[in-house]
Amino acid sequence: MKMTNVQPARHPNPTTKASALAYLIFDRPDLEKAEQFLADFGLQPVSWDESQLLLRGTGAAHFCYVVRKAPKARFVGFGLQLDSKADLDALARISGASGVEPSPWPGGGYYVRLTDPSGFRVDAIAGQTPAVFLPHRPPLRFNSVDATVRINGTQRPPTGAPEVIKLGHVVLELADFQETCAWYTQHFGFIPSDVQVLPDGSPAVAFMRLDRGDRPADHHTLALAQGFVPTYSHSAYELVDADALGMGNRVLREKGWTHAWGIGRHILGSQVFDYWQDPWGDKHEHYCDGDLFTADKPTGTHDVSREAMAQWGPTMPRTFTKPKFTPSSLMALFRNLRRSPDLTVRKLLTLAKIFA
Ligand SMILES: [Fe+2]
Repeated sequence: MKMTNVQPARHPNPTTKASALAYLIFDRPDLEKAEQFLADFGLQPVSWDESQLLLRGTGAAHFCYVVRKAPKARFVGFGLQLDSKADLDALARISGASGVEPSPWPGGGYYVRLTDPSGFRVDAIAGQTPAVFLPHRPPLRFNSVDATVRINGTQRPPTGAPEVIKLGHVVLELADFQETCAWYTQHFGFIPSDVQVLPDGSPAVAFMRLDRGDRPADHHTLALAQGFVPTYSHSAYELVDADALGMGNRVLREKGWTHAWGIGRHILGSQVFDYWQDPWGDKHEHYCDGDLFTADKPTGTHDVSREAMAQWGPTMPRTFTKPKFTPSSLMALFRNLRRSPDLTVRKLLTLAKIFA
């Protein structure tokens, strides 16, 4: 049966509730090139050998970005942190899950390796040793028309790559949107903060946050979008303020990296954003001033459009969402059109009209 108009919703009794997005894993043919971009982007290497590069922000995480040396560039998956090791036992019972194994990465702890219904690797990780914050420059204070905080002084944000504070979110495109969305709400307790729908009412994008109870969580830590094959869309990294973001724009431009979209302010999540492409064309977002919601806030529903992506700044360029058509992705498109309950020719044409 095609065309499921079921809206993504929180699960009444999830297997676990993830407490953070811990790390992303990428395969790259050239670690040096990866490091050059990521250092200009504002991440700091924590370990580097011929097979693997780990990087971090200044926030309390041992690492948040893993680059494995591999012949083919691809996004592999990500880690979700859990507060208790007992949660790992529950996840190890899901079909296809690994056992509870010690993590070989900095901070140690234990993890269960899962594969989501779209084929992305998900490590559930718990019991790491606490990581320490690194110092970062404090946010700039602004003179406003109502309050002057700087007299006989100047505003001079430091030049150079901005400091990434933390990995904020990852966005994935999926053929099997409904099943994958439901898997994350069921097993990790994700709450849809806002859902964007197509004109026929079917969901196209779900922005999902962590369920931290009455503690506020980022508007989205994981966002899932209807596509025709499972693929990485982008990942986002928090900076201390908009001047860090503007300085990042200058540095990345001067270093010759490719700009993708920005600077602007999103609507859903409200972040001030700036998107850049890494050496393999994968988008990385700088952001600051995002919304935080507690578990109380109900899910919002909105129409999807390119104009609905920003309050100000350039309209999202078509190049931002244009799919990469290769012989193998076209094969997958035809296979998924027949197989996936979420895909129809009509829906693909609607998505293409809006985004491609
Ligand atoms: Fe984003």
